[in-house]
Amino acid sequence: MTFLSHFKPAAAVAIAALMIGAGAADAKNFKIAVGDSAGSAQEATGKAFVAALEEKSGGKHTATLFLNGQLGSEEVTVNDAAMGTLDMSLLAINNITPYSPTVGVFSLPYVILSLEEAEKLTQGPIGEELTQNTINDAGVRIIAWTYTGFRVLTNSKKPVKSVADLQGLVVRVPKNEIMIDTYKAWGINPTPMAWSETFTALQQQVVDGQDNPYLTVNAMKFYEVQKYITNIRYIFSIEPLIISESLFQGLSADEQQMILDAGQAATQASAQFLRDSEAAIKQDLLAKGMEISDPENGEEEFIKLATEAVWPKFYDSIGGVEKLNAVLETLGRAPVQQ
Ligand code: MLT
Repeated sequence: MTFLSHFKPAAAVAIAALMIGAGAADAKNFKIAVGDSAGSAQEATGKAFVAALEEKSGGKHTATLFLNGQLGSEEVTVNDAAMGTLDMSLLAINNITPYSPTVGVFSLPYVILSLEEAEKLTQGPIGEELTQNTINDAGVRIIAWTYTGFRVLTNSKKPVKSVADLQGLVVRVPKNEIMIDTYKAWGINPTPMAWSETFTALQQQVVDGQDNPYLTVNAMKFYEVQKYITNIRYIFSIEPLIISESLFQGLSADEQQMILDAGQAATQASAQFLRDSEAAIKQDLLAKGMEISDPENGEEEFIKLATEAVWPKFYDSIGGVEKLNAVLETLGRAPVQQ
């Protein structure tokens, strides 16, 4: 993408560090772009981060959340943070992948199979390596992880219980090659679209459906424009809080540590938020009139088509099949045989 060919992370970091360094002792109010709306998992992470930052800095530093894509669509905020014109952003990891392809390993279909697996991967050496990669590739640093749950398919047209039922549906996906190819493996050509345009496109029936976790479907009020949910659960949605690396490098060591500690507190709070709220939100969506189905013959058909077609295609972009195998090994599963 053009961003990758023009952006020089190291140069931006050095210039901004000089500019910010002078005011390092000042009280700060960081601006955080948030892709989702009030009630979302992203908001819960953001609020926990703000509370922890205020507590750890004795009330000196704070941050303000700008919900609902007010500061730009998720993909755009990565670029803005990299350039130092935005402090922080909370967004789905699939919208970081175009800038830092190795994080795509977390979006490969059916790799992460539970919240516990997501926590293990993100909070261990693999999470650290991917954090370093986003700094190098994209000029942003991941400081917290939001766990939002499995992405499920929603649509306004009909119950979908099999791959055959999917045929003919127009489904919005993020501008993410892995997700585009997953739907292609299931036999349909999805419509890549920015997150900020998705609700309107569903409402105006430009597209029939999309996929996102229950928490997001509820917070974004998709139940107003979508009737059917299918538990395809192909990706466990991970939604990091990122900070501009140039901003981070301009902070004092104490401030950097406070930010990292507040991020860790926010990560813990996010896992708790998901554990506490997902079951009730599912009930709420049913009460609001949505119909929820499981694939009628289990997920095997979806899993087989997606993993066989999509995994090999992305080995190079995630850094080689050994990166996927490191993930599978961490999760106690058999490696891919080449
Ligand atoms: C997307 O579908 O683009 C994202 O998952 C949106 C989000 O951040 O919730």
